[in-house]
Amino acid sequence: MSEAQKSADSRPIGFFDSGLGGLTVLRRVRELHPKENWIYLGDTARLPYGTKSPDTIRRYSLANILQLQKLGVKAVVVACNSASSTLDSLHLDRLDVPVYNVIEPGAEAALAATETRRIGVLGTRATVQSKAYVRALHLRDPQVLVYQQAAPLLVPLVEEGWEDDPVTNLIIYRYVQPLIAAQIDTLIMGCTHYPALTAGLQRAVGGDIRLVDSAEAIGRQLEKDFHSLRLKPSANSQAQLRLFATDASPQMDSTAQRLMKDANLPSFEGIDIELVSAQHDLLKGAK
Ligand code: DGL
Repeated sequence: MSEAQKSADSRPIGFFDSGLGGLTVLRRVRELHPKENWIYLGDTARLPYGTKSPDTIRRYSLANILQLQKLGVKAVVVACNSASSTLDSLHLDRLDVPVYNVIEPGAEAALAATETRRIGVLGTRATVQSKAYVRALHLRDPQVLVYQQAAPLLVPLVEEGWEDDPVTNLIIYRYVQPLIAAQIDTLIMGCTHYPALTAGLQRAVGGDIRLVDSAEAIGRQLEKDFHSLRLKPSANSQAQLRLFATDASPQMDSTAQRLMKDANLPSFEGIDIELVSAQHDLLKGAK
């Protein structure tokens, strides 16, 4: 066996999201790491997470991670911001595989981008109420000013395929107004669906405000871990992708193709997930 083969691991990397929005994260990360195999799990049966309580989101998230472990992944990426905002190292460090969430990489990318240290966060109600981005930013730079805005109407508009619609643009404009008034220079797109709205968001905030997409930052984090061999890279030349969802709807495959900008995706496979109880060991110590 060659050295390269010894330090290779072709097990897939698992991604999960409450629904299909996380495919925007997978799309970018897959572009950055074309040799990896991927498993995507959309918990469409329980979508949306962004309107639910932290306890419920945390239970669903752990069930998804355990399911991905059963499918034999070497790492899990929590693509969903609402899910990422309820999970901390208390839960993640006790799992069998490394788990990446979008909050820390997103916060780091925003701090690297800001000049005025005034950062905006746009997300679901769950993400905003958790203050996960605020904590992650303040931990790294206590002086930074963070302004949050919940934007609950944007997820259904993207699901509907209305990314470039006057109605959506009007709603975006309304949501970002308080952030513009707060004179931010950097805006974290703190929800899986918002990268699909990049053009409308950039138009609404103007060219001087930088948009931060955590997919890019997660891709770089994986790169670092491949380098340090915390995670062994795959040596495949023909990378595979499998898509799973907990509930199937007729338009799912076409929505996935649209979000991934790829017309040759495999069809979704249905999957049942064993939910975890509120007393599960991995939930002990949750706030
Ligand atoms: N995936 C969720 C997020 O990034 C958005 C959709 C939902 O509310 O479940 O926060």
